[in-house]
Amino acid sequence: MRRSLVAGNWKMHGSRSDNTRLVEEILRADQGDAGPEILVCPPFVYLWEVGRQLRGSSLALGGQDVCAEAAGAHTGEVSASMLKDVGCSHAIVGHSERRALYGEDDQLVARKFAAAQREGLTPILCVGETLEEREEGRTAEVVLRQLDAVLGVAGTDGFMRAVMAYEPVWAIGTGKNATPDQAQEVHALLRARLAEKDATMAACLRILYGGSVKAVNAAELFAMPDVDGGLVGGASLNGEEFRRICEGGGKQGA
Ligand code: PGA
Repeated sequence: MRRSLVAGNWKMHGSRSDNTRLVEEILRADQGDAGPEILVCPPFVYLWEVGRQLRGSSLALGGQDVCAEAAGAHTGEVSASMLKDVGCSHAIVGHSERRALYGEDDQLVARKFAAAQREGLTPILCVGETLEEREEGRTAEVVLRQLDAVLGVAGTDGFMRAVMAYEPVWAIGTGKNATPDQAQEVHALLRARLAEKDATMAACLRILYGGSVKAVNAAELFAMPDVDGGLVGGASLNGEEFRRICEGGGKQGA
């Protein structure tokens, strides 16, 4: 049985004082082993301070992105070893905002995935189709292409310690979440592709849903058989809302 994971992606929001208050509220969501695993992903500059505040709790810390290179002359970039050094256990790769706004293609995302893993971080690989792609009936083709690119670089073994997130682009920040059935259909498709490579790995891999997850829809989304929690953007900036999402966290490890 897969334990649920609820991850908060703060995107480019926050300030030192706002973060302190938000983390105080989020810590109340910590139910230890009785609830879902909880991860917070603040902007890079706040990772260390937020990590200190999380100490002693069971909440985990993650980066929102990671450089594909290990070190060197890469102005503005943050390496996987740096994320590890400040206490991160996870790194999001391939978020649709990185793909669409910063030109990240499937190959770069795959290299970021591998770079995170080389340092012992758990990558959270985001995949998802645009509204146009969905309307053209290309959802399966797009998400499988995004997955296959990473399988090609990281191999089946790369998914032994990884998380995936299905985030339909049309659902991100729009208030219009995928229905539980729409999410389940894509999650099952992704898991089936992974199962072609390794059935045990596919059965163990957590696939999160992301895109307008809120307290009112989290429980029904997370209750779907192949939905193992959520990657939450806007609603993770409200401590009370995020706590309620975690409480609706769904399936527990068994
Ligand atoms: P949202 O964002 O919850 O604000 O839709 C999700 C994400 O981008 O990870």
